[in-house]
Amino acid sequence: MVRKVFIAMCFISMSLFGQLVHAGTPTGQMLAYTCAGCHGNNGVSKGAIPSINNLSAEQMAQAMLDYKSEKRPGTVMNRIAKGYTEEEIKAMADYFASLKK
Ligand code: HEC
Repeated sequence: MVRKVFIAMCFISMSLFGQLVHAGTPTGQMLAYTCAGCHGNNGVSKGAIPSINNLSAEQMAQAMLDYKSEKRPGTVMNRIAKGYTEEEIKAMADYFASLKK
């Protein structure tokens, strides 16, 4: 009996853990934090680096995909864009576009 309860508990905790792992999929907002160091909070840059709060979701996603495939030359963006999947790029682009005024 005790053994059966123990096995049932193991299954329950395993399924709970599985849900936590699912909840860990990064959102566009989480991914966008990594851009803030250079492009500023909410994509508004104060320095020489271009602001990215003025692009549409399509323009931003296209720019990132072009950097990723080396179609568009850059100094750092090619390396950065390669670290993201197409889905992550789209999620980030949607997030930044939602900040547009
Ligand atoms: C290390 C600093 C740095 C980080 C981090 C960074 N960028 Fe950039 N970004 C640049 C620079 C510099 C440029 C100008 C192009 C180049 O030199 O690569 C640029 C250009 C861009 C452009 C083109 C802007 C335009 O007006 O055409 C986009 C879009 C962009 N970055 C998006 C992002 C996103 C999204 C992230 C986060 C995943 C990010 N960047 C992270 C430095 C950075």
